[in-house]
This record gives sequence, C-alpha cells and structure tokens, in this order.
Amino acid sequence: MERFLVAGGARLAGEVTVTGAKNSVLKLMAAALLAEGRTTLTSVPDILDVTIMAEVLRRLGCTVERADATVVIDVPATPRHEADYDLVRRIRASIAVLGPLVARCGMAKVALPGGDAIGSRGLDMHVAGLVKLGATVESEHGYLIASAPRLRGAQVWLDFPSVGATENLLMAAALAEGTTVIDNAAREPEIVDLCQMLTAMGARISGVGTSTLEVEGVESLSPVEHETVADRIVAGTWAVAATMTRGDVFVRGGRVEHLEMPLDKLVQAGAVITPGEGGFRVVMESRPKAVDVVTLPYPGFATDFQPLFLGLNTVAEGTAMITENVFESRWMFVNELVRLGADVRTDGHHAVVRGRARLSGAPVTAHDIRAGAGLVLAGLVAEGVTEVSDVQHVDRGYEGFVEKLVALGADVRREQVPDEPWL
Ligand code: UD1
Repeated sequence: MERFLVAGGARLAGEVTVTGAKNSVLKLMAAALLAEGRTTLTSVPDILDVTIMAEVLRRLGCTVERADATVVIDVPATPRHEADYDLVRRIRASIAVLGPLVARCGMAKVALPGGDAIGSRGLDMHVAGLVKLGATVESEHGYLIASAPRLRGAQVWLDFPSVGATENLLMAAALAEGTTVIDNAAREPEIVDLCQMLTAMGARISGVGTSTLEVEGVESLSPVEHETVADRIVAGTWAVAATMTRGDVFVRGGRVEHLEMPLDKLVQAGAVITPGEGGFRVVMESRPKAVDVVTLPYPGFATDFQPLFLGLNTVAEGTAMITENVFESRWMFVNELVRLGADVRTDGHHAVVRGRARLSGAPVTAHDIRAGAGLVLAGLVAEGVTEVSDVQHVDRGYEGFVEKLVALGADVRREQVPDEPWL
C-alpha cells in the first residue's frame, strides 16, 4: 500500500500535459474486439485501469502490446467470451466488453463489476437495451450471460443518458442486423470519440454528438488506428488545482470546448482563463469565491468534477451549494474533507459548503479516483502535511500525478505505507 504526503502552501506554476482520456480509452479497447486483426490506439494514458483492461482483453484471447503511449491490440478470429470476476471487479468499465462480445461471438459471460465505491450504479439499461436488440440476458452466480445468434436493430429509449449503456449498445448495434436508434443517449466527448473510432472501423452511425444515435448494422468491421481524445477530467483537475493554489498553469492538451461549464465556474470563482495554442492557461491571483454546482449528464456539469469543486469551495470566500444528480452517494469524500477542517453538511443530493480561510493537514483516505485527486488538491492548500492513503485509486486515473505536481512546484511525495506490526 502506498500513500501521498502533501505539504501545503505551494503556488502551482508552469506547464502540464494532459494525455488521452481514461473514460474513452477503456471503451476504445473494448471496441477493438469488434474486428479481427490489429487495432492501434495512440495517446493512451499510462494508468492502472488501462493495464487491467489490457489483461481483460488478453484473457479473451487478444495480444495486447504497449510501447510508450501506443497500444496495439491483436484480436483473434474467434475471441473467448468470458470475462472473470477477479479482473472485472477491479474495473467497472470492463462491462464494456459485453456488447462487443455478444455482437461478435453470439455469446458473452461477464462478471458483475465493482469499481468505484460511489452509489449503486445499476446495469439495468445495458441489459434492457441488449434484450431490445434480441439478446437473451440472464444473471447467474455473479455473471451476466448474454446470447444472441445475431443481434437485430431496434428502437431503444434510455431512462437516463447512461454513458456505459450508450457505449455498450452502440458497439452491439454496429454489428446487428438492421437499424438501431438509441434515444436519450449520452453525448459526452468520450461517446463521440467512440463513434469516430467505430465509424473509421466501418460502422454507420448518424447523430454523433446528439442524444439520438442511429446505427445501421454492418456484417463486419475492420481494425483501425485511432487517437484517444484528451482527458477533459484530468485537464479540469489541473485547472482547479491552479485556481485553488492561486497559481499560473498552462494545461497543454486541454480542450476548452469540452470544459465549458467547469471553466466558466472557475472564472466565476475569480480565475482568468485564456485559450492558447494547444491548450489553455489558468491564472488565479486571489482567494476563490464560492460557486454553486449542479451535476448533470454532458453538456451539464460532470459528476467527476464534483469532488474537485467541493474541495475548492472549502477554501472559498462564501457559501456554496453542491447538488449531485448523477450518483446518489458520492459524499464519502466529505467525511475526509471534514478531517481537514472543512465545513460541509450533506442532506440527500445536496452539500452545503461554508468556505474557511484555511484547512489543516491530516491523514485522509481516497475512496475513488476523483475524490483522491480532490484530497490531494485540498492538501495543497492545507497548513502542514496531508497524508492521503489508498492512492491506488488516484493511480487508476491520473498518469504521473505526483511527478506532474512536483514539476509545477508542489511539495508532494509518494511513500510506502509502513507495515503495522500489531496486526
Ligand atoms: C461513466 C464514467 C464515470 C462518470 C459517469 C457519468 C467511465 C469508465 N466512467 O460511468 O467516470 O462519472 O460515466 O458521467 O466512463 N445507471 C443505471 N442503470 C444503468 C446504467 C447506469 O441506473 O444501466 C445509473 C448509475 O447508477 C448512475 C447513473 O446511471 O447513477 C450514471 O451512470 P453512467 O452514466 O452509466 O456512468 P458509467 O458509465 O458507469
């Protein structure tokens, strides 16, 4: 087990580079299963979740090789169709192999996933959609088992624009017989990225970037080379970090067009944000002002930013209301912030944050990726040292987080947690 030791007080300054999006590349890797042969993905972040997803694909019979930021996936003519619990429980996104496997092999057996500890995160829309496409889906001994000799196009309405369900259904529909319409589909930039890769593979998709996706199924798809879209959540994390530490940071690779809502909130908080060649600059000179946040599916304010903005508000001038509409219990993080001296009350979907002049460093625990990053940022503005444990969560989503913070002037280091001899 490892932890981060974060000493507060530094003003972040300099340039940081954002790589490809975790939430995109994991699905692009699953999409490779749709075509026999070598698919090449570039701008692949070097993070734990990619390593785990590569292992999921290897156990399905693929060869996966990585060289720097390029991953080559060689998919056999007949992949195996079973994804085991020991891997799936470590990465919820591995459920993305369900759609491609049933479309390609006529059968998929995928363990019910675990993943971040943030709410129930059902799979009912994934299942209902596949059933609409003609699959039989059963749940047995902790596995979802889906089968269909050939999926058939259908009209699917999602109760909620679920990112994962939209992706699974898109991939399944690409090889179905006939036309599928997915209504109330998610429209995150990562969905657009997946649509672009599928289209390059030979899929026929219209309505890309809208909430109605129409997919005309084809007989087969071909492997391609595809560049992963930049990680907007990581880019936004650096923007929040610069704002909280009253810094001056150029976020290279960050795309303002994917970050309109969060960057606008940072401007309201007092930051000056200037788009530039290949990225954007964030400069903050004063204590941030409190900003209210309401999470919603894209283009609304992303739930993944919620812990980061909650953290920002703990040291802001004024009181903010944070409303979480996407995941019902994303508040575990609040208890950790309170350990740092934050004044936060939660009630149902809402958290009220009264800004304090300063936080005070303490040992805290990361419960998921973004909460972990949020605690590190809080540590940067706390007095003294904040010890963040369970940092494997942060490693799942942030490439070289500590090294990049140090390069921007932060006093942060990673250390092994000593054994507890009394255990
Ligand atoms: C993805 C992202 C995650 C982000 C989330 C919302 C990845 C790997 N993860 O997660 O970082 O926070 O989108 O932007 O891309 N739901 C159901 N039934 C379903 C599917 C979802 O009830 O069949 C619910 C979930 O419990 C949750 C909400 O819908 O409350 C959103 O889930 P979804 O959009 O599917 O998120 P993920 O794809 O899991």
